[in-house]
Amino acid sequence: MERVVCLIVGYVFGLFQTAVLYGKMKGVDIRNVGSKNAGTTNTLRVMGAKAGLVVLLGDMFKCIFAIILTYFLFGRSNPDRRYFYMIYTAAGAVLGHDFPFFLKFKGGKGIACTAGYIISMGWKFVLVGLIAFFGPFNVTHFVSLSSLCLYTCFLIQYVIFGQLGFLGNLPQSELNEMYVIVALLTALAFYQHRGNIKKLISGTERKTYISKKNKV
Ligand code: G3P
Repeated sequence: MERVVCLIVGYVFGLFQTAVLYGKMKGVDIRNVGSKNAGTTNTLRVMGAKAGLVVLLGDMFKCIFAIILTYFLFGRSNPDRRYFYMIYTAAGAVLGHDFPFFLKFKGGKGIACTAGYIISMGWKFVLVGLIAFFGPFNVTHFVSLSSLCLYTCFLIQYVIFGQLGFLGNLPQSELNEMYVIVALLTALAFYQHRGNIKKLISGTERKTYISKKNKV
């Protein structure tokens, strides 16, 4: 039951489509311009760094707020299972972000939302996440590639930390359940980036610059 509540809370928060809403406020339908993705990167390229930052923060914090809510519902009274509730909530938030029912299930790719989840996991995950993302980004300027590196490193770190006991004192069966969910989220991220992967292979993927003007 707790799993279902966490998933639903996450999904409801994930429905908040920052890029679509911010774009509408500024007279832009983000789903019709640039890469047509309702996320931070496309917003940054189309509308500039300030707009990108607003969308990044909005999409990160919706996941963080959902996690805070389920922490007060379940995690606070059962601290050993707080990471268990967290992964279900984050999975719900990514699903809400990627597949909003009111937009015909066409949302974003879930990376900023996942970044919010990684922040909630604490500084050790944030540190590895920053290196995993900005390492490839500084060299290639491909956000898609950097996002997939971030997810892959997160999955590896998650399993290692779980086995070392950093994810709470849980039975192995529940830890395995958590690993499967993170693996599924990683697979989903690759699926959502399938168009980007094709472009990376064919050499036509868009580069993204934070302080320079981007090609839309
Ligand atoms: O998080 C989305 C990013 O990885 C790629 O976005 O607009 O380049 O398809 P975009």
